[in-house]
Amino acid sequence: MINLRPAAVQELKRLLRAQPGQPPQVRLHLQLGGCLEWTYQLRSADVALESEVMVDCGDLGVLVANPLLPYLQGLTIDFSEDLMGGGFRFVNPQAAQTCGCGNSFSLTAGHLSGDCQTPAADPPRAAIG
Ligand code: FES
Repeated sequence: MINLRPAAVQELKRLLRAQPGQPPQVRLHLQLGGCLEWTYQLRSADVALESEVMVDCGDLGVLVANPLLPYLQGLTIDFSEDLMGGGFRFVNPQAAQTCGCGNSFSLTAGHLSGDCQTPAADPPRAAIG
């Protein structure tokens, strides 16, 4: 289960409206990088890939690759604005560590935070496939 807070749904819909013709669905993906191992990616998606499932998040569909589901189980996505600007906030109960901004996480403890441009050494690529 992935939980989208109302503010995140509102912001995603606003972004999707800026792309006329797009269906109300987004793709949630993980990418190597950030201060820890993985960062979240949210992008508009017109069609589901064969390896993806649609996670029902109310009136907004979220496509997630099947192999990623265990690493995103219970994820809450919110959106908030502060003096530094707005951004999506991720709270992932599967994360062993989360960076200061919340956009990067590791699945195992013991990773040292580096700078935001350097992926952690020896990431568990096979774990996510
Ligand atoms: S990715 Fe660098 S602090 Fe979050």
